[in-house]
Amino acid sequence: MNKYKILITDKIHDEGKKYLISNGFEIKEILNPTEEELVKIIKDFHVLIVRSSTKVTRKVIDNAYNLKIIGRAGVGLDNIDLDAAREKNIKVLNSPESSSIAVAELTLLFILSALRRLPDAHFSVKSRKWEKSKFMGRELALKKVGIIGYGRIGREVAKRLKAFETEVFIFDPFVKKEDNFVSSLEELFNMCHIVTIHTPLNQSTENMINRNLLEKARKGIILVNTSRGKIINEDDLLWALNEGIVSIACLDVFSKEPPENYELLSHPNVILTPHIGAQTEEAQSKASLILAKKICEEIGG
Ligand code: MLT
Repeated sequence: MNKYKILITDKIHDEGKKYLISNGFEIKEILNPTEEELVKIIKDFHVLIVRSSTKVTRKVIDNAYNLKIIGRAGVGLDNIDLDAAREKNIKVLNSPESSSIAVAELTLLFILSALRRLPDAHFSVKSRKWEKSKFMGRELALKKVGIIGYGRIGREVAKRLKAFETEVFIFDPFVKKEDNFVSSLEELFNMCHIVTIHTPLNQSTENMINRNLLEKARKGIILVNTSRGKIINEDDLLWALNEGIVSIACLDVFSKEPPENYELLSHPNVILTPHIGAQTEEAQSKASLILAKKICEEIGG
């Protein structure tokens, strides 16, 4: 046993837990605590491990007298107050290598499902109908697909889209430009049949997809979001769906989770999943194990 105690507040894969225990860490799991509960108990721990549900606020960090590491099993750090952690010298570790393939595969699943109206066709047959002529779909081949954000996930999506014989265009102001890069979001939305979002949530991406941009979009665009809900202004998306500017929105993430915008949720032209982009056996096992190894490297084990 080493001297470090770890608190886990979101469900993570057993692989990582086993690794930490075998390296002598003491682990306590208290799932989905409120901020108040977390504030009360955090002082007893040296490491806090979360996924996306636990909000690691300044108030939590201010009470974390012994905390050395906040570990995020996964990619996004938007649920952690990074400034507060930095001020207290608390290291924030994550495992962004883990879920790129899972998220890229869900993105492709969304795109193909939207083009063939798979959820509607499925429920039509389930309800004992045979509406073959109603489900005239569209092919992905030769479509122009726009990717916002060319990081780990965006690149995996692009690789897979090329196998479907699409034309891929990228918008990312932070990476070295290649031939298929466009210089503005307006250009991307104007030229593409399908746009998929793969950027982190931060001050410059919050509400990035809004009415002003959607007004300039190609009519009937398919919009896919497997990144963070707040990147899209949901009221503006609803407007664009009602106008037919967005023909189908595929949403894995929402501004509030579980989502509360019932008008959007019940819209016939949205396909929804409950933030499962990274939710595969492979990705979760990698996310927890990579993080566990990083924690051990940082504070021994
Ligand atoms: C991530 O950022 O890793 C995912 O979006 C959230 C998760 O499922 O942990």
